[in-house]
Formats: sequence, structure tokens, C-alpha cells
Amino acid sequence: MKKSVQQPLVPPGPARSDPPSDAEIAGFKKQVLAFYKKHGRHDMPWRHTKDPYRILVSEIMLQQTQVGRVTEKYPEFLAAFPDFPALARAPQSAVVAAWQGMGYNRRALALKKCAENVVGGYGGTLPPDPAILATLPGIGPATAASICAFAFNLPVVFIETNIRRVFIHAFFPGRDRVDDRELLPLVTRALDKDHPREWYWALMDYGTALKNTVPNPNRRSAAYVKQAPFTGSDREIRGRILKMLVGRNRIARTEILAGLGGDPDRAGRILSALESEGFLAKDRRGYRLKE
Ligand code: ADE
Repeated sequence: MKKSVQQPLVPPGPARSDPPSDAEIAGFKKQVLAFYKKHGRHDMPWRHTKDPYRILVSEIMLQQTQVGRVTEKYPEFLAAFPDFPALARAPQSAVVAAWQGMGYNRRALALKKCAENVVGGYGGTLPPDPAILATLPGIGPATAASICAFAFNLPVVFIETNIRRVFIHAFFPGRDRVDDRELLPLVTRALDKDHPREWYWALMDYGTALKNTVPNPNRRSAAYVKQAPFTGSDREIRGRILKMLVGRNRIARTEILAGLGGDPDRAGRILSALESEGFLAKDRRGYRLKE
């Protein structure tokens, strides 16, 4: 399907050192919401549920994987693990298998541990409190807040990559090294306390659209870190090892190293790291995914 042509987005405000007026904030909100009404990604499956488990899974997936890929994998993952108890009792190897294609596999282990904690420590119900959520495996402060906004419609204040992009673009034109501490008061002032869920959806969609229309404003964030290339990275080799082992009983170390090619010392170090992180079990006949 052809992508709809982007509407012109909010032009950056004037370069300034004083905070924007209430009227400017109101104008900004109006434009973000108008964009959202017309171009919002209303069909994303995680926007049609308030089930905290389903929201949690989507937010963990969306931390580091693009929307298109998550849209593909999310229904499969939920079909295999429909709720906290199902994920908590599943073998870890099955969770890693279901995670294939999304990268950053540590999230799969953390999500499973998180489910075990929710079942064991919170009676299987996710607490609607960002401070508590942020103590759970895989959930940092931004994910904790996004879960509270999307699952519980709580008026939390948070910044993630799309939100950061919007505020830097709108309120910090021409500025470099913008600190999140400078953005937070504006995120707080702009928050729609009556409709936090929709407001944050709108900000995220607006931020995604901005990425395709202006040079990434997040390069002007103090938090900006350029992503290292994937090809040839340890991350790529980690992913290939896990992929080899999914659905297999056990593979001899020599076979893994031969399958990978390249530097066997480097591959050996990566295998050891995967073992000590709890992905793999090793015995004298080789490696397998830990149950
Ligand atoms: N909708 C809900 N959560 C989202 C996220 N983290 N990224 C993009 N869109 C979303």
C-alpha cells in the first residue's frame, strides 16, 4: 500500500532562551493532535488493547525493534504466551525462539524473568505504579511510564526517543546538546492530563513522522549515541549463534565455530558471554539453548 504523503509538520519555533508561553504550548498541542487525527497509526495492534501484559510485551519489543517488525512478531508471541502465567512457566528456550527476528535477545530473557516476578511477587497483576514497574527486569523508567500511560491511562511524564525528537524540534531550534532536563518541564506542561494515552500516541507518531522529514533532531540531544553498524558486530554474531541453536538439540562447539567462520577466538568469547548471560547451557558435547 502506498504511504500517505506527510503533511507539513509544526515548523520549529523561534530560537530563544526564555520558556515558551502557555499560548505557544497550546498551539503546539493543537498541531500535534491535528496531525495525529489525520495521520496517526491507529491500526497498530497494541493500540487496541489495555491489557497490561499485552502493553508490556509491545513496549519491550518497541524499545529496540522497528514498528514493522514488531507488528509481524507481536501476534505470534502473544499466541504462544498469552498472559503472565503462560510466559512465566514457558521454557526460556521457547521464548528465545519466539523472539527471533527482533534482535537484542537479552530482552526476551528479561521479559520472561519479569513475568516470573509478576506471577511470584504481584499475584500475576502488573502494579499501576511507574516506580514499582521500573524495579522489574527489562523495564527502565521510560518503559515503566509508557506502560502506565498506555495500559492505565495515568498522566505520567516521560521522554523516549520519539518524544525527545518532537520537543527538540519544536522548542530548541539550532541548539546543540539539549539535555532531557531541559525537555522535562515542557513535556510536563504539554501533557494532556485527561487523555495521556492518546496524547503520548500522538507524540510518538509525530516524532516518527519528523524523522522522515527533517534531519534527526535527536542528534542535537545530549543523550544522543550513534548506533554502531550491525554488520560485522558482536551483536550480529550473537544473533547468528542463537538462530543456529533454535529448534536444535545441541551443537558441538567446533560445528558452531565452523558455521560462523571468521575469527574463532572472537566467536569463542561470544559463546562464553552467551553462556554466562544465561542463554546457553554447555556440556562436553556442545552447546544448546538453556531450557
Ligand atoms: N504506540 C504505543 N507504544 C508505542 C511505542 N513505544 N512506539 C511507537 N508507537 C507506540
